[in-house]
Amino acid sequence: MIEEEDCSSLINNNEINNGTSDSQFFKVTPWEVEGEIDYNKLIEKFGTKPISQEILAKVKKITGEIHPMLRLQYFFSHRDFDWILDKHETSENFYLYTGRGPSGMVHMGHLMPWIFTKYLQDKFDSKLLFQLTDDEKFLYSQDRSREEIARYTYENILDIIAVGFSPHKTKIIIDTKHIQYLYPIATEIAKRITFSVAKSVFGFSNSTNIGMIGFPPIQAAPCFLPSIIEGKPTPVLIPAAIDQDPYWRMTRDVAERMGYYKPAQIHSKFIPGLGLRGKMSSSKPQTAILTSDEPEIIEKKVSTAFTGGQPTIALQRQLGGNAIGCPVFWYLRYFFDTEKQSDERLLKCKSGNLLCGECKSDLAKESKSFIIDFKKRREKAKDAIPKFMYDGKPL
Ligand code: TYM
Repeated sequence: MIEEEDCSSLINNNEINNGTSDSQFFKVTPWEVEGEIDYNKLIEKFGTKPISQEILAKVKKITGEIHPMLRLQYFFSHRDFDWILDKHETSENFYLYTGRGPSGMVHMGHLMPWIFTKYLQDKFDSKLLFQLTDDEKFLYSQDRSREEIARYTYENILDIIAVGFSPHKTKIIIDTKHIQYLYPIATEIAKRITFSVAKSVFGFSNSTNIGMIGFPPIQAAPCFLPSIIEGKPTPVLIPAAIDQDPYWRMTRDVAERMGYYKPAQIHSKFIPGLGLRGKMSSSKPQTAILTSDEPEIIEKKVSTAFTGGQPTIALQRQLGGNAIGCPVFWYLRYFFDTEKQSDERLLKCKSGNLLCGECKSDLAKESKSFIIDFKKRREKAKDAIPKFMYDGKPL
């Protein structure tokens, strides 16, 4: 992972969008992410807030440091994160809540919010609920069978445990297995949301199946479960990429009417796929590094990755490359380089002193060693599954 360095970034926030800053079209929903995302516009569109210097100063005051994912503005937006920090300072403990829709094998993009969630759990000693929306992923696609989703649910649980969450403070909720704990809360939520609101928040249409239309309260329910577990209104912080925000907009709308705190969020950007455009996605496995990939597959995926380089070595030396539009650069920056190394890589690329083959070779080497180690932890996770399953008891 990136380590904290005393070196100011060479990249301005408008550029950190995995591409150009003149984005024309983009779409971000919980189920589809398309186009070149302008994250500043997304803050305006979703009505969230950028993470300010004051918030970072408060984080530093409490934890003694600023995590690189915050420093590099990978986590760039929030709702009420400052309020969560205030609550922590007045000794009101907050829960963390995050999740996964088990539609395929886990890729390194998914790991980013989870690694950050583990960091928050360690720093704030927080309890964590981790939801697996197997119902959502079954309903979303007509082609997916229940058996396929069940297989991915199991595989994804191994990844979640392998991240290293505390077994004493973390519980995994599988929707179809633990529905009895969610359903009473979900019906309370559902009763307060009209179809007209659901259509405008999620873009449902007449052709959306009614399972999907009824699903959002199930993802909202774990926002309020901590209050039920603790027997008093309990603050909740959700770390996730910004695609999940529509769920929280809806949940926040009903929270106070139900006697709960509004859930707070901290939103990340997306790790780019290794192809020409778009986020890393399980539905495009050829452009994603999966935690189950063999070293030769990683090597192949990285060697065929799109880059911001020129067509020939001579042109690269003469004109320099476009690191900002290069997924290999972003991947290295967010995952493996220190901030200082990454800033140097950027300068060397722009000036033609670095060739794409060198960056690809760095990425292949780092990813292979990361995944080899991660796979060992996935193996060990097999025996730990029962400890992590939610059982309705206090954590
Ligand atoms: P899912 O499975 O699509 O994604 C799981 C988590 O990974 C984030 N994510 C990414 N982050 C960085 N780069 C990427 N390329 C990338 N792709 C996905 C997502 O934002 C998410 O944080 N419905 C949810 C499951 C869910 C959930 C939650 C997620 C249930 N409750 C609470 C977050 C918080 C889903 O299908 O996520």
